Amino acid sequence: MRTQLDELKTHALADIANAQDTAALRDVEVACLGRKGKLTGVLRGISSLPAEQRPLAGKLANEVKKALEAAIEARRVTLKDREQQALLRDEEFDITAPGQKPLVGHLHPVTQVQYHVEDVFRSMGFYVLDYPEVETDYYNFEALNIPKDHPARDMQDTFWLTDGHLMRTHTSPGQIRAMEQFAPPFKAVFPGRCFRYETVDASHEHTFYQVEGLMIDEDISVAHLISSMKTLLTQIFERDMNVRLRPGYFPFVEPGFELDIRCLMCGGNGCSVCKRSGWVELMPCGLVHPNVLRFGKLDPAKWSGWAFGLGLSRMAMMKFGIDDIRLFLGGDLRFLTQF
Ligand code: DAH
Repeated sequence: MRTQLDELKTHALADIANAQDTAALRDVEVACLGRKGKLTGVLRGISSLPAEQRPLAGKLANEVKKALEAAIEARRVTLKDREQQALLRDEEFDITAPGQKPLVGHLHPVTQVQYHVEDVFRSMGFYVLDYPEVETDYYNFEALNIPKDHPARDMQDTFWLTDGHLMRTHTSPGQIRAMEQFAPPFKAVFPGRCFRYETVDASHEHTFYQVEGLMIDEDISVAHLISSMKTLLTQIFERDMNVRLRPGYFPFVEPGFELDIRCLMCGGNGCSVCKRSGWVELMPCGLVHPNVLRFGKLDPAKWSGWAFGLGLSRMAMMKFGIDDIRLFLGGDLRFLTQF
């Protein structure tokens, strides 16, 4: 028994010392002390020894077991440490090397301008509304005081659906929808995408963005219109704005105006942007035509209002210094990632 155990111990200790990594050491451990291990077999055999031999055999076998366990543990510490050192050595990396930056998307320049305009109006108590891009002839033309044979229709041809609907040519149809939806007095803006059957060039697109504004109350006058527009533009451009009104014709307002702003490029001295005039045409506006109020189911004897239409695509061009409207929908990342 003793020699058998001594031999087992000598071999096992040699195996433990020879194990070159923790996985190999684990194999040695299982081969000795595992359920089917050699030492486990010896321990099991003790019960079949004559009774007087058992205590000594048990004692010896346990001593060997303790010695092997201690040897294995000591070797494991050594091997683990060695393995960790190797990991640190082989997997070292340069923390100053530039990382790989994932491509992160961002808002389109027109959307950025739109959100800013929305914020400004919301802070002044306006509703921000969303109305359909596919419209009926009634909302896009008829109810805006543009009957079937009106020459103003020629300026706003559009894409027609086979069922008689059309792609809205401006955000103005929202005026009628808002009057139907809300009880006056109210004020609202409705930004969105518009479409026209256009010959496309640097300043014309078949698809572009506008924001419409509408305020309905009693006794609204041109004085209200001017002061409201000035306040709005001061907020949007974040600086004091000088404006002037020129008469302009739009069937849905009376009187109607073209609102010009002092050229932001030259401050009014005259440059190529303002064509040497010192003024830049920015947005058409006016007092809501009585017929339009009637189409909106409001009594023109009691209610009045102002309205404006602002080109969001054009504003984005002015804000970012973009000289070709086609870039917005061109889908070229070299353009879009600049904003
Ligand atoms: N809807 C017009 C267009 O797209 C712009 C416009 C003019 C809107 C006068 C208005 C307005 O609200 O009062 O050309």
